[in-house]
Amino acid sequence: MGKLMSLSDADCEKLLAAAVQASAHAYAPYSRYKVGAALLSADGRIFSGCNVENENIGSGICAERTAVVKAISEGATNFVACAVACATDFRCYPCGLCRQFLSEFGAGLIIIVREENGYSIKTIGELLPKP
Ligand code: THU
Repeated sequence: MGKLMSLSDADCEKLLAAAVQASAHAYAPYSRYKVGAALLSADGRIFSGCNVENENIGSGICAERTAVVKAISEGATNFVACAVACATDFRCYPCGLCRQFLSEFGAGLIIIVREENGYSIKTIGELLPKP
């Protein structure tokens, strides 16, 4: 739990709830690991995303990148935070590829990960110091 920069606990909870909700839409017939992400843009919009897998395993996309792709496509350019949640697993951290992808938008981007009793909070710069 906690607070970082201008993000309140209520903001974190709201983003996490959006991530959990998005995980319900995940298309994950191969891994059965359903993930949701919710990205908060600087202008206050929330873009959610889920993982979308494919029979050609390498063609699948993670929830975090889905959210970023949706946001950029709709004109959002600056991001404050990204919450990540797996429906069946706590401590679902972004994969290495997503860390690189998210780093594009600044080392200060806040990553919120759902935990059993709340959430943990890190910057993308902490998760990937040298993108
Ligand atoms: N996955 C995500 O979407 N985000 C994460 O943070 C971790 C992993 C997806 C990728 C794949 O569809 C499934 O979860 C199993 O790795």
